[in-house]
Amino acid sequence: MTTVLIATRSRGKQREIREIFRPSGYELVFPDDVGLSEQVEEEALEDAETFEGNARRKAEYFVRRSGLPTAAEDSGIEVFSLGGLPGVRSRRLAALAADQDAANNAELLRKLRGAPPERRRARYRSVIVFVQHPGAVPQVFEGACTGTILQEPRGKGGFGYDPLFLSDELGKSFGEASPEEKHAVSHRGRALRAFANWLACTPRV
Ligand code: IMP
Repeated sequence: MTTVLIATRSRGKQREIREIFRPSGYELVFPDDVGLSEQVEEEALEDAETFEGNARRKAEYFVRRSGLPTAAEDSGIEVFSLGGLPGVRSRRLAALAADQDAANNAELLRKLRGAPPERRRARYRSVIVFVQHPGAVPQVFEGACTGTILQEPRGKGGFGYDPLFLSDELGKSFGEASPEEKHAVSHRGRALRAFANWLACTPRV
């Protein structure tokens, strides 16, 4: 069985990636599992202007450090009336805070205060870049899902902006959805299943 390093230190993402990948049968490890302690230079890996650029930088950095086949994910939420913001800046929409998710959610609500539903349309995006060994051609997988930013949080599930994201497909917020419901339609579920299918069809991996 192939082991794949997933280049993220986010606990919310790690939990979801494990859950979504479980049926594939691949063994996943995260940086701490293989003794890769956090380095200051990692913060600068997310300075690119696109999700793909960020994911590629993280994958190439961690494949060099680990020597393992490595996948990195970059994701975020794009609000159409804000020109696609916060996008690649989703993790740091608000100033650095002890509870970053709560601060980001408050800032998003502030930016959309008084906005009618048609100006609250949004899309989550997830881009995964997989690099089999240092110098290998990167493989790219994407997923997206659409919804509307609520006026106030609903539900306590998921992480990040989930309590504010009313999913078109579920008719409820990702904060109200069970993990299985969210993964069935989420940006991350879609991107990871595309990646898992590709791995299954690619004999050398
Ligand atoms: P990064 O990919 O680590 O740069 O950060 C992604 C950021 O986008 C997270 O910190 C969240 O703010 C947001 N985000 C991405 N995916 C999700 C999701 O599934 N639920 C809630 N927030 C998300």
